[in-house]
Amino acid sequence: MAKRKIIALPGDGIGIVVLEQAVRVLDAAGFDAEYIYGDIGWEFWCKEGNPLPNRTLELIKQHKVALFGAITSKPNDEAKAELSPALQGKGYSYSSPIVGLRQHFNLDICVRPCKTYKGNPLNFIRRGKGTTIEEPQVDVVIFRQNTECLYSGVEWTNPPDNVYQALLSHPKFRENFGTVPVDELSISTRIFTRKATTRILQAAFEHAVKFGYKSVTVCEKPNVVRETSGLMWKLAKEMQKNSYPGIKLINTNIDAQMMWLTKNPEEYGVIVAGNMFGDIVSDGFAGLIGGLGFACSAQFSSDGIAVFEPTHGSAPKYAGYEVSIVNPIAMIESACMMLDYLEEKKISQVIRRSIAEVIAEGRVRTYDMMKLQGKPEVISSGAASTVQMTDEIISKLKK
Ligand code: NAI
Ligand code: MG
Repeated sequence: MAKRKIIALPGDGIGIVVLEQAVRVLDAAGFDAEYIYGDIGWEFWCKEGNPLPNRTLELIKQHKVALFGAITSKPNDEAKAELSPALQGKGYSYSSPIVGLRQHFNLDICVRPCKTYKGNPLNFIRRGKGTTIEEPQVDVVIFRQNTECLYSGVEWTNPPDNVYQALLSHPKFRENFGTVPVDELSISTRIFTRKATTRILQAAFEHAVKFGYKSVTVCEKPNVVRETSGLMWKLAKEMQKNSYPGIKLINTNIDAQMMWLTKNPEEYGVIVAGNMFGDIVSDGFAGLIGGLGFACSAQFSSDGIAVFEPTHGSAPKYAGYEVSIVNPIAMIESACMMLDYLEEKKISQVIRRSIAEVIAEGRVRTYDMMKLQGKPEVISSGAASTVQMTDEIISKLKK
C-alpha cells in the first residue's frame, strides 16, 4: 500500500521541537507515512506578510490530514514592527494563522480528551473523608465548537452607524448603554448558528455512544446568555430525546463547572460547549491531568480535513534552549489521535501504552513532571530533555 501523506506544520518555538519528536515516535512505531512540511508561522509573516501562505492551504486541501505544532501570535502593532523592511507600511495586517486555518477549512469540531495517566505526579488530588487523600480518575472528552462564538472576529470599537443603530433598536441596549458615547463602545459578538451547534452536539453524542460514556454535559450558561447558550441547550435536549435517550444529558453553567471539576471530575464523561467556554473548560480539565504538557486535540471539518495539535502554544521562552526541556507528550498524544482517525488503532494503542509505562515507572520525567521551574539547569537537576523523554517512549515500543 502506498504511504500516507501527512502535512507536517511545525510552526514556531517549541512547536518545531515537539513535532519533530512526534514524527520520530510515529516512525519508530511503524506508521508508514511521508511527511510533507508546510510553511506556517512567524517567519512567513515577517518574510511574506502572511503567516499562513496559500501554498500551505493548498497542501492541506490536497492531502487532508495535518499534524500541527504551535505558532507564535503577537498584537498587531508588534507584528507590524517585525515585518521585513520591504513590507513595512504596505497595509499588511497580522492575524493568527491557526485561527485562520480553522476558519478557512471550517474545522468546526474540536475534540480535547483529558484522561489521567496512573503515576503522573501532576495528577489532581483532593481531600477525602477524614484525613484521606483521593486521586480521582479523570476520563473526560471535551467537544468544543471551534469556529463561532466570541472567537469569530465580528467585533468593533466605535462601531459604524448602521451597527450602532441596530444596537439601539434593542431595548436592553437603549436602557443600559444608550447614553454611552459611541466611540467609547467596544463590542464583540457571540454568534451561534443552528447548523454548527447541531454538528458539535451530534459529534459529542456520537462519541458518547461509540466509546461508552454515560453522559453528555452541555457546559454553557443558558439561564443568562439566553440566545446562544440557550440555543445549544434547547437543541441538546431535542437531540437527546429524539436520538440518544440512553445517554444522560446534564446541564452545567461554565462558572459552576469550573468549581465542580475540582470536586467531582470523575463524574463527567463527554462535555460539549461553544468556542470560548469549550476553551476554558478544556484547560480546566487539562490542569487535572498534568497541564499543557499532556493536553492534546483534534479538529475536523465536515468535508474530511483533519488537523491534530497539542493545545499548548509555542512557549517562546523555552524555544531557544540548546537542549529542549519541554514535554513532548501532548504532541505525541495528538499524533495518536491522528492515528485513531486514520484507523491505525493498533499503532496508537502501542504508543499510548508506552507513554503510560514511562509515566507509571516515573524514572524519566520532564521538568514539568518534576514540578521544577523551567530553565536550562533542570537537566542537571535530573529532568529529562524533550529528546530523552521521546527516546524513553520509543524504547518501550520495541518491547
Ligand atoms: P504556551 O502554551 O506557549 O506556554 C505557556 C506555558 O505553559 C509555558 O511557559 C510553559 O510553562 C508551559 N508549557 C507549554 N507547553 C509545554 C510543554 N509542552 N511542556 C511543558 N510545559 C509547557 O502559552 P503562552 O505562553 O500563552 O503563549 C506563547 C505563544 O504561543 C503566544 O504567541 C501565543 O499566541 C501562542 N499560542 C499558540 C497556540 C497554538 O499554536 N495553537 C495556542 C496557545 C498559544
Ligand atoms: Mg486555550
